[in-house]
Amino acid sequence: MCGIIGCVGRGDGTLETLVHGLSKLEYRGYDSAGVALTAAGRGVDICKCAGEIEDLRETLADRTLSGEVGVGHTRWSTHGPPTDENAHPHMDCTDDVAVVHNGIIENYQSIRDELTRAGHTFTSDTDTEVVPHLIEDALDDGADAEDAVRTAIARLEGSYAIAAVVAGQEAIFAARNDSPLVLGVGDDALYLASDVPAFRDHTDRVVYLDDGEFARLDGGWTVTQADGTVVEKTVDTVDWDPEETGKSGYDHYMLKEIHEQPRALRQCLRGRVDELGGTVDVGDLGDLSPTGVQFVACGTSYHAALYAAQLFQAAGVPAQAFLASEYASGVPPIGDALVVGITQSGETADTLSALREAHRRGARTMAVTNTVGSTAARECDHAFYIRAGPEIGVAATKTFASQLAASNLLALATAGGDARGIVPALRDLPGDVQALLDDSAAPAVAETYEDAAAYFFIGRGLNYPVALEGALKMKEITYKHAEGFAAGELKHGPLALVTENTPVFAVVTGDGEMARKTIGNVKEVEARNAPVVAVTDGASDVERYADHVLTLPETHPRAASVLANVQLQLVSYHVAARLGRSIDKPRNLAKSVTVE
Ligand code: AGP
Repeated sequence: MCGIIGCVGRGDGTLETLVHGLSKLEYRGYDSAGVALTAAGRGVDICKCAGEIEDLRETLADRTLSGEVGVGHTRWSTHGPPTDENAHPHMDCTDDVAVVHNGIIENYQSIRDELTRAGHTFTSDTDTEVVPHLIEDALDDGADAEDAVRTAIARLEGSYAIAAVVAGQEAIFAARNDSPLVLGVGDDALYLASDVPAFRDHTDRVVYLDDGEFARLDGGWTVTQADGTVVEKTVDTVDWDPEETGKSGYDHYMLKEIHEQPRALRQCLRGRVDELGGTVDVGDLGDLSPTGVQFVACGTSYHAALYAAQLFQAAGVPAQAFLASEYASGVPPIGDALVVGITQSGETADTLSALREAHRRGARTMAVTNTVGSTAARECDHAFYIRAGPEIGVAATKTFASQLAASNLLALATAGGDARGIVPALRDLPGDVQALLDDSAAPAVAETYEDAAAYFFIGRGLNYPVALEGALKMKEITYKHAEGFAAGELKHGPLALVTENTPVFAVVTGDGEMARKTIGNVKEVEARNAPVVAVTDGASDVERYADHVLTLPETHPRAASVLANVQLQLVSYHVAARLGRSIDKPRNLAKSVTVE
């Protein structure tokens, strides 16, 4: 949520570098944007407006803005609506200080009251605006630019990634607490961003800041603690190409990422499954025989957690999935449980908070994440990477598939069970997804039901989280009403919503007891004249009761759920495309939610 970019050393290319970086960060927030530039002996120039990065480009076309040091921001509103005034950067009374911020400053109101009493004038509703005014006060008191920024930061409570420029200073000052910031170290220039894609076109060398650290970027870079103690940081190298963050000819990142699932799954499984021996190797994740496992996660990742918990339960290990935002209240003491945070970004505030709570209670923690160097990866005792590659679309797609595959690996490594049954299915999974993508009836189904009043999704067992995820994807990108239910729950209330205008997507795999019961539920909706779309591997006779069928290749039930989800992703995508929705950047949402 909110994206920050900064750069020093790009000369005349500074403005374009900032705007291009913002376009790569737009998935983090896209309701307003802005930039600030300065240079030696010059004031600070800013340009900002409500709207997306394209709107900023248009606004910049009428302006002359130059400078050799700059910061930029794309916003996802927390304090005040998306207006020109609330867009970042924010400035002080003298227009000599510009600040961009991601996070929430919890004590901003008392600081703002104090500064107002002292004569400062505020022009926005944001919490951020107190920061440039605090810097202004410290400069007035005689501090140099770096000390002034440090003095301001010391006053703040809450979560923040902050970057500031001060008139005439060829430097960016930055600080991090509970919100990601990473430095990019180029040959001739330095970068600062919320996430690597913002500067990946320029360098693959990165330095991840930790909470409480302060960075100065000028001719070189230094990272210090709040008290000025120098921190020796490691320069890491990212292992993915800049092209991986482009659309490669697809209309939307979401569609590209749906089609990248075969590759993402291959990467997730590579070197981790031994087909001959029927074993898995997840590397060193410490003691893998916990007495119980608690999963904490949000949104799509929570659905992966529900799936993962079932795998562990099946192997006899007590396991539960918790919504991370509910974890702190009412969860029983942990004992010897392993607490696993499933989080694509590794930066979701609710999930980080739940993992920290688990840590406080003495539990061992593990992050299952896509983002190397993320806060979750660094704070947990162990990190297991799903290796899906960068995901830009706000709607999680390939990372969900990879979370499910990774859950299978972890369950096999931790809980044991019949690896030989699932390992060949995992091996075939990338190819099965490809076959499904090459020949899916989802576009036709989307065309038939684009005007539906609502969409319902049902499934049992491992297909229950798939039903929840199908509904989340549908509502997220089409803005239409959609709900997922455990199939057996339909008759306990939701059946009242079912009409001839509410297609019901029934995920039915295999031909066992669960499939038979779900078919019973399908008959219940059919009797109420609701159209039925069966998502099935053809093992049962559910097709007899369906108006449309989305076919899955035959496979192991655990892999079938992954495949069923791909069909549902495609349906949501095509409905949203037909309705002309903003698929990659749905209204009100952000890719990475770094506030609780
Ligand atoms: C799903 O499409 C959403 N992007 C959202 O539910 C997301 O899964 C959730 O915010 C958790 O994000 P994380 O995996 O980065 O922690």
